[in-house]
Amino acid sequence: MSSRPISANGLAADAIAAGEPTAWFDTLYSAAARDEAQVPWDRHAPHPLLVQWAAEHALDGSARNAIVVGCGLGEDAEFLASLGFATTGFDIAPAAVAAARDRFPSSPVSYDVADLFDLPDGWAGAYSLVFESLTVQSLPRTLRMRAIAAVRSLVAPAGRLLVVSGALGDGDDPDEGPPWLLSRAELDEFAADGLVSTGIDCVPGADGGGSHRWLAAYVRG
Ligand SMILES: C[S@@+](CC[C@H](N)C(=O)[O-])C[C@H]1O[C@@H](n2cnc3c(N)ncnc32)[C@H](O)[C@@H]1O
Repeated sequence: MSSRPISANGLAADAIAAGEPTAWFDTLYSAAARDEAQVPWDRHAPHPLLVQWAAEHALDGSARNAIVVGCGLGEDAEFLASLGFATTGFDIAPAAVAAARDRFPSSPVSYDVADLFDLPDGWAGAYSLVFESLTVQSLPRTLRMRAIAAVRSLVAPAGRLLVVSGALGDGDDPDEGPPWLLSRAELDEFAADGLVSTGIDCVPGADGGGSHRWLAAYVRG
């Protein structure tokens, strides 16, 4: 029997070819739980751009709530909870949610299995801070506008949205993925349905990844 490590790229290619572009996440997290694969985006720490933005804005979550889209292994959700936010982290992959609960057994975060494209009742317009990191770019470009609209839909009146994503560069093939990096124009798609942009930065080497990262913030007026 071969003991070749399971690769995220191989799983993604197979799932996309089978027309199930989100199916590979749970397979990957399940394999990682058995030590048969590595989760490439597992940083064992909150995203540095989130930490930096929180410090620059003296972010205080007291009496506020937050939600983390595609929360993966929970590091960003835990960070927001540590700032006082009543925090929800959701992910389509049950194995991710199980791993986050396992990693943070005493956590105050509510970790839920949920699909960005079929959000639970009551989540629309319900969160004063929405954090989206690397989930939209992990979905095929054909799903992009639906994904962006769904992220936007979570933001409460006067609430804020913070997006971290790989930045599509001039020489990059937009159709090559995952990840399918976001263009500057695509960031403007978050600024709809009452949300306005409050700042977009392009940061080189922000998390050790090769590409530049967008850090984009919005507020619902
Ligand atoms: C590239 S990972 C990023 C994880 C984490 N946000 C981070 O920055 O490290 C994308 C995450 O989105 C989740 N995901 C993909 N499609 C989703 C969907 N439709 N609804 C909810 N989560 C989804 C995946 O399971 C995975 O955990």
